Amino acid sequence: MRDDGEIAAGGVDLAAALRYLRDLGWDVVYRHPAAGASSPAARASGDEAAGASPRTTRNAREGVATPPATSATSLGSAASVLTAPERASALEQLAAEARGCERCDLAQSRTHVVFGCGDPDADLMVIGEGPGAREDRQGLPFVGPAGELLTRILLAIDRPRDRVYIANIVKCRPPQNRDPRPEEVAACRSYLDGQIALVRPRVVVALGRVAAQTLLGSDLPVGRLRGEWWQISGIPLRVTYHPAALLRDPGLKRPTWEDMKIVRDRLGELAPA
Ligand code: URA
Repeated sequence: MRDDGEIAAGGVDLAAALRYLRDLGWDVVYRHPAAGASSPAARASGDEAAGASPRTTRNAREGVATPPATSATSLGSAASVLTAPERASALEQLAAEARGCERCDLAQSRTHVVFGCGDPDADLMVIGEGPGAREDRQGLPFVGPAGELLTRILLAIDRPRDRVYIANIVKCRPPQNRDPRPEEVAACRSYLDGQIALVRPRVVVALGRVAAQTLLGSDLPVGRLRGEWWQISGIPLRVTYHPAALLRDPGLKRPTWEDMKIVRDRLGELAPA
């Protein structure tokens, strides 16, 4: 681990996400100039350096490091030529593919693939770790006790659950709720990248250690990653505690509420006039 708190490269896998969109029939993404040179959409999201390899994409503290690469922002720009119904349909096709996924061993033990749910046009996307037992049974994210708390937290920032897009780092339940393994996270990553690119939220919230560390390519604890704005592919990202952690330690409720108020305010600032 680097001890200066700098986040190592951990960007969205643009190539894989683009392959998804192509496989889904959205060949428009290869023709749209926004995916290449400095497009208005890319500029608006601060991702100017077009043409660089997706491999060089970095997540960054806002205002500190400049993400030097084409990234999912460009994919987001490309996906922005799709209408909302087209993006919803692309998400549904991606979900259908995920439902048949056998890329890792979690496929053997799952009951359902828990792809994600919510508003494909949401301004807020929350990303958890992976399905638990209840989610595995129902095929929906955050429907257990932690999910009920998440629903209340979202309501408290004026976001009924169905206006938010909810996803997880891994789409299948790790047995006994263990942490997902690196190879499982990697196998699932392009589904999440596709979700981010297609939903194009204005703000992402990473819930808990696994989501935060995966999205930021860091091994710092949540306590060090929360409290500031990060970017993932040009999208502002905030880290907060996982609702399951709040159930275990109610003392985390206050800092989580502070985080979520900041998210609410940022969404207010970023709302279209
Ligand atoms: N915890 C998560 O991280 N995700 C879920 O969907 C449920 C519990």
